[in-house]
Amino acid sequence: MSNKTFYITTPIYYPSGNPHIGHCYTTVACDSIARYKRMQGYDVMFLTGTDEHGQKIEEKAAEKGVTPKQYVDEIVEIFKKLWSYMNISYDRYIRTTDDYHVEAVQKIFKALYDKGYIYKGEYKGKYCTPCESFWTESQLDENGCCPECHREVKESREEAYFFKMSPFADKIEKLLLETDYLRPKTRAVELVNNFIKPGLEDLCVSRTTFKWGIPVTFDDKHVVYVWIDALSNYISALGYENGQYDDYEKFWPADVHMVAKDIMRFHAIIWPAMLMALEQPLPKHLAVHGWITFNGQKMSKSLGNVVDPLILGERYSPDAIRYHIMREMALGADSSFSNKIMIDRINSDLANDLGNLVSRTVAMVIKYFDGTLPAERESDPLDEELISMSKSLRDGVDKFVDETQLNNALAEIFKVISRANKYIDETAPWVLAKDEAKKTRLATVLYNLLESIRISTTLLSCFMPSTMPKVWEQIGADESLISYENAGKFGVLPANVTVKKGDVLFPRLDIEKETEELNAIILKNAPKETQDTDKANLVPLGDTIKIEDFGKVDLRVAEVKSCEKVPKAKKLLCLQLDDGFGTRQVVSGIAQWYSPDDLIGKKIIVVANLAPAKLCGVESNGMIVAADVDDAARVIFVDKDIPNGAKLR
Ligand code: ME8
Repeated sequence: MSNKTFYITTPIYYPSGNPHIGHCYTTVACDSIARYKRMQGYDVMFLTGTDEHGQKIEEKAAEKGVTPKQYVDEIVEIFKKLWSYMNISYDRYIRTTDDYHVEAVQKIFKALYDKGYIYKGEYKGKYCTPCESFWTESQLDENGCCPECHREVKESREEAYFFKMSPFADKIEKLLLETDYLRPKTRAVELVNNFIKPGLEDLCVSRTTFKWGIPVTFDDKHVVYVWIDALSNYISALGYENGQYDDYEKFWPADVHMVAKDIMRFHAIIWPAMLMALEQPLPKHLAVHGWITFNGQKMSKSLGNVVDPLILGERYSPDAIRYHIMREMALGADSSFSNKIMIDRINSDLANDLGNLVSRTVAMVIKYFDGTLPAERESDPLDEELISMSKSLRDGVDKFVDETQLNNALAEIFKVISRANKYIDETAPWVLAKDEAKKTRLATVLYNLLESIRISTTLLSCFMPSTMPKVWEQIGADESLISYENAGKFGVLPANVTVKKGDVLFPRLDIEKETEELNAIILKNAPKETQDTDKANLVPLGDTIKIEDFGKVDLRVAEVKSCEKVPKAKKLLCLQLDDGFGTRQVVSGIAQWYSPDDLIGKKIIVVANLAPAKLCGVESNGMIVAADVDDAARVIFVDKDIPNGAKLR
């Protein structure tokens, strides 16, 4: 084995519900990187697992009438089944209920206590049960709710142990601002301003109000509370402070921890602080991706807004799902999941670009040369671009994989695939085939195509591991020729290569039919209260915005004093409003549904700070708020006793 090592981790997931596409993203992304690094010759450790303690699990198990361990055992099996189905090549799966992890966490907790970084105190604060987090007043959101999930928090008070964060503030600020630990780096300033500049608060690290956790060895009323337990998994899984494994020296520090933005703070601030306190080296990179959202909401099982990845995989193949989610998500940004976009992408990239390239090339070798190319070659300047792009592809993909930008890595590969398709059009093999004197040239064209397919699919195989071997069989690439080294060379296939016709790699999908069926599945699996078929017709919810964004819209109550039709404009009414400050003229496109008499004397809502505009030559200062119902506008009327000018918030 090589002495170059590479250690990559996913978060350990809560087995509080079945895994969904969001969990798949991080796991598939890490898997692809792990496969790539293995192909490059690294000795890879790819870790994933489950975070099995905590109040939420205890409560869920009680609801089901089983023990917490029975509850998590069942869900962990579902996670493992999905990972096996999605071809996730993890090297180790950690469960925080594993004895060796429990032992390590107890030792870590004690070591931090002995070093004076953990002390006993009393926690008074706001507790969010779903997030298992205490928050201070200043951290709550604008509604006094949890800043992470925006649900209600409860006032709580209890004896607890605390981890001192302040000694590490300066070092962490430097880590975030001056090194490339955090990716994308753009998030560093936000973290420093929100959490470090106001003064790093000590972290509550034990609980006494529930039992489902790792007991504190020297004070058994307490169980270790979430983050010391969870974060330690990255080192306990290597054997840190336990006898189960002996890989710590070899693999620590980790090369990449990949997480979504919801747990960035814990990995960017608390985890480095813990390691600094333990005097251990820090991980090299923290790659933070956004959320997969569905209709603007974070995708989650409990929202019932997702098609189960197993169902998607069964319909379209695990590789198609892997490709789609990785191609869609740019590091750092959210990515909105849409069944239609997924099906479109499978059709355009996989069925058309890749699938057709392979099937056309193989079919031409069979048609014109009975499946075996002659060994002679005749090159042409037309070949140069395809050859040079194919040769340099590996370097381009290397760079993006190293920067954890997998969507860009895939885009690079598909540039070569598109270039190869264009090369077919440029060289027109069917024309060459008509002329016996051009047979050598024809063989050269087809060989160049086979080579560009070999190179691109070798690199693609890390992202789509089960389909690419089928391509290699078709293009006559013996598996011994498939290697990272050969992906950097052109001319590896034998000159007299023999191809073989194979099955269609990705059948074309009927978008209408597929989206309809997927919507029906979503509706059927949605929680009861959202199973209303009317909902299927609703305009999808938009992306989330910040409260500051909403604050920019000045909505006011106003009374319609007079109203008349705008001459020569069938759809427009011109209204004079009393907005509490004076008279305001607004033009509104509601004449098809309202006559002036329906409106005069009524109170409505106006977007008061909209820039003035002219509609059919008439000046309008604002917009009337209306609801879209069956393609008609329904004006929102307001109670008479709300004063004109009242601001909505
Ligand atoms: O936070 N989009 O576990 P968790 C993208 N146990 N990624 C998503 C996602 C979405 N909609 N939903 C989930 C925990 N993820 C802790 C972690 S680590 C020491 C402890 C992925 O089950 C993403 O990787 O809530 C996110 O960080 C993780 O699941 C959260 O998983």
